[in-house]
Amino acid sequence: IDVALADGPLMGKHIIVTSGPTHEPIDPVRYIANRSSGAQGTAIAKALAALGADVTFVTGPADVAPPMGVNTVKVQTAKQMLAAVKAAGRADAAVFAAAVADWHVANAGASKIKKDGAGLPQLDFAENPDILATVSQMTEGRPPLVVGFAAETDDVIVNATAKRLRKRCDWIVANDVSPETGIMGGSENAVTLISDAGAEGWPRMSKDDVAGMLAQRIAEALA
Ligand code: CTP
Ligand code: CA
Repeated sequence: IDVALADGPLMGKHIIVTSGPTHEPIDPVRYIANRSSGAQGTAIAKALAALGADVTFVTGPADVAPPMGVNTVKVQTAKQMLAAVKAAGRADAAVFAAAVADWHVANAGASKIKKDGAGLPQLDFAENPDILATVSQMTEGRPPLVVGFAAETDDVIVNATAKRLRKRCDWIVANDVSPETGIMGGSENAVTLISDAGAEGWPRMSKDDVAGMLAQRIAEALA
């Protein structure tokens, strides 16, 4: 059992964490999604709760179980994830670790598509709302600290720095998810924390240790 520290540095702070993939239906039995175990987001929620934070954990269908001691809201789609984040209300910080699907299927069917000789299905894609950008650009009630993630395969720092400025979040946690790094689906992560102060590379460590360091940084920023 995980017990929040009674006198942790994040006592009284409300922090929203998104995690896992979203599933965007094609029909009742099929979906599109990004690869995500939910391990890093889950570890972050757990680390924040361990420092005393009141955590709203909004998760898509992840492989790992949500941590104890947080307020878990389970969702399937990006639209539902955005609605759950908005419903969570005011927060002191928000960490967007979810691997949100970029598109949903606009012509998703209520019935199962059959391979019945009618030819291949034609899927119409429509863009999903960008939850991180939406919250970062809120004119009222924006959390004072908004943290995004950027999983990249090329030009990691350049792409992540541009992403931070485009979305207007405060920090971006960038990582290289090229297959040769073995990060995707593994228990370790090697991240660079990008903020106004520049880019700070952290050594490769367990996802739990990345979460612990990030939670510590968040506690310092909110102190
Ligand atoms: N994100 C989000 N909502 C979306 C897409 C992304 O909240 N619809 C968040 C992710 O949780 C992450 C950050 O935005 O914190 C960056 O996600 P990423 O997929 O790297 O960014 P995109 O803008 O979707 O760019 P790309 O074309 O590289 O996928
Ligand atoms: Ca994306």
